Amino acid sequence: MWKQLSVALAFACAVPSPVATAADEAEPRLVGSATCRACHPIEADHWAQTVHARVFEGAPRGAREERSCEACHGPGATHVADPQRADAIRRFTRESREAVATLNGVCLDCHRGGERIHWLGSTHEREDLACSDCHNPMAEVSAEGLQREASVDRTCFSCHPQQRVEFRKRSHMPLHEGAIRCADCHNPHGSATDPLLRGMSVNAVCTPCHADKRGPFLWEHPPVQESCLHCHLPHGSNHESLLTSPRPFLCQQCHSQVSFSHPNDLLTRGNLADGPVPDVRLGVRSCTNCHAQIHGSNHPSGVRFHR
Ligand code: HEC
Ligand code: HEC
Ligand code: HEC
Ligand code: HEC
Ligand code: HEC
Ligand code: HEC
Ligand code: HEC
Ligand code: HEC
Ligand code: HEC
Ligand code: HEC
Repeated sequence: MWKQLSVALAFACAVPSPVATAADEAEPRLVGSATCRACHPIEADHWAQTVHARVFEGAPRGAREERSCEACHGPGATHVADPQRADAIRRFTRESREAVATLNGVCLDCHRGGERIHWLGSTHEREDLACSDCHNPMAEVSAEGLQREASVDRTCFSCHPQQRVEFRKRSHMPLHEGAIRCADCHNPHGSATDPLLRGMSVNAVCTPCHADKRGPFLWEHPPVQESCLHCHLPHGSNHESLLTSPRPFLCQQCHSQVSFSHPNDLLTRGNLADGPVPDVRLGVRSCTNCHAQIHGSNHPSGVRFHR
């Protein structure tokens, strides 16, 4: 493993620099966390409150975890001898000269698979994000998941300001209210479903919380079965109920004005609330005044979603 690392190091630092020689790397020596603590008391105190410290120092599950600080930062003897030498200790901060993939590999040594089964090739991996862009293992900043910011959502907002705004729109998922988090719908570590969705399809993401919309219904409305996103935005919208566009236009995108059995005089622009001949039936909930069971109906005569 250390041989591999020195190869990776040599590769990352193709420009001549005072890197450790192969001989140094071949015989890395551990110094133990008490030695690190002596020069890094503040970092060590903060780290002591994290789940890693509790496991590594309290109930280590193997030799790697027993290394404590050095489980992540690598053997420290060369660094202790000459702290100013840039490459003698593995850094995860911006000053690091190692490739992001190498740094992530340190974390993945213990955290491969599970939630991260799709990490390789995921959008975040391809964008060269480091695990430590979202996680700060050095301090318990967040209540859960060793996040870099106080919460999962704030961590996401630091790079996704547009989504922060979307959740402030007139109609929005109750994220700022604390009822839902980015990670309820997305797996930031990767997914088989774009964009990083937690579930095999959009509907598989939505229906665990909105089970009444899942069906199966006696009378299905095909777009509902296909994807909630035909009519809803997932984060927020300026139209009520997170709709992609206001009614009746929402419905008319698919249902043209000319219809076989419909009172189609309803369907003109002229009889909207602000038109020359407004029709009360198009006010308020518009088409869904009558077609109220728009997600599907279980009523024997609910074929038009009236009941
Ligand atoms: C003799 C004192 C001393 C000891 C012992 C020591 N360090 Fe350091 N360490 C320093 C100094 C000084 C720096 C700052 C060097 C610099 O800025 O380039 C530093 C820098 C670091 C950095 C880089 C910080 C950054 O900005 O990325 C890490 C990581 C680190 N030490 C970890 C450790 C670990 C882990 C141990 C135990 C194996 C350890 N140190 C033991 C003195 C020490
Ligand atoms: C689980 C892996 C892990 C362990 C264990 C660990 N560190 Fe770190 N350390 C990191 C990461 C990741 C960063 C970069 C944090 C960041 O980006 O702010 C870091 C950063 C640092 C820094 C730079 C200053 C800072 O806080 O960002 C120092 C110094 C340091 N660690 C020392 C230590 C010491 C001393 C120990 C043991 C008491 C230790 N680390 C244990 C992963 C670890
Ligand atoms: C030597 C093995 C090891 C390494 C290396 C390691 N971890 Fe961990 N990590 C653990 C163990 C053990 C736990 C606690 C028990 C568990 O969740 O499996 C843990 C827990 C976590 C958690 C969950 C925290 C919580 O509150 O539930 C996160 C996040 C995490 N590690 C991130 C990282 C990151 C990021 C790195 C690389 C900088 C890293 N780990 C390196 C072993 C490791
Ligand atoms: C884009 C942000 C982001 C990146 C990058 C990221 N994580 Fe996470 N990670 C999270 C969030 C958010 C959670 C909490 C998820 C939850 O609570 O459902 C989490 C949870 C975890 C956990 C604890 C829960 C579990 O899955 O067991 C571990 C361990 C972990 N991450 C490791 C890693 C490792 C290793 C990497 C790098 C390969 C990484 N993470 C990269 C955001 C990120
Ligand atoms: C360090 C910056 C950073 C952080 C933190 C971050 N992301 Fe990203 N994310 C990116 C980049 C860069 C992209 C790709 C460009 C884009 O779509 O904006 C991206 C893309 C995405 C995408 C679109 C994926 C696709 O395939 O189109 C989703 C979804 C996403 N991030 C969710 C999250 C979530 C959830 C969190 C918090 C757990 C998070 N991100 C935290 C940088 C970040
Ligand atoms: C209710 C579930 C849900 C929640 C909560 C959620 N998302 Fe999404 N997100 C989605 C869906 C579904 C899409 C796909 C949208 C599409 O394909 O048009 C998406 C798309 C995205 C994208 C891709 C670009 C875009 O806007 O279409 C990014 C980036 C993103 N989400 C980030 C976030 C962040 C950051 C958070 C937390 C602040 C978050 N999401 C919370 C369901 C959710
Ligand atoms: C983790 C649970 C959860 C998931 C997943 C989820 N929702 Fe929600 N959704 C909620 C909660 C909570 C509310 C607020 C309910 C309330 O205020 O009565 C809500 C409200 C809504 C509303 C009504 C908004 C309004 O302004 O009246 C719509 C529409 C909606 N969700 C659609 C979706 C869609 C589409 C998805 C999938 C992309 C989804 N939801 C995924 C929990 C969830
Ligand atoms: C054909 C368009 C369409 C599709 C597709 C659709 N919806 Fe809706 N949805 C609506 C309309 C229109 C409203 C507003 C209903 C009203 O005002 O009576 C609504 C309202 C909602 C509401 C809030 C009011 C309520 O009934 O609880 C939720 C939650 C919701 N939809 C979830 C979903 C989910 C989950 C899916 C995917 C399984 C989905 N919708 C698919 C059109 C649609
Ligand atoms: C993405 C396209 C799409 C959207 C948007 C949409 N529908 Fe539909 N709707 C369909 C399809 C496809 C059918 C099935 C047509 C068929 O079976 O001939 C259908 C069937 C129906 C039916 C039953 C018609 C029949 O012949 O049995 C009614 C009523 C209906 N939709 C009303 C609405 C209303 C009201 C809205 C707006 C809230 C709406 N639809 C939005 C695609 C859509
Ligand atoms: C005043 C109540 C009412 C309103 C408002 C209304 N509809 Fe209807 N709709 C009906 C009735 C009644 C039928 C015929 C039912 C039947 O024949 O079984 C119907 C039938 C339909 C059908 C089936 C079409 C067909 O040719 O059989 C569609 C699609 C439909 N409506 C869409 C819409 C759309 C889109 C809107 C909004 C622009 C709308 N409706 C507004 C009452 C209404």
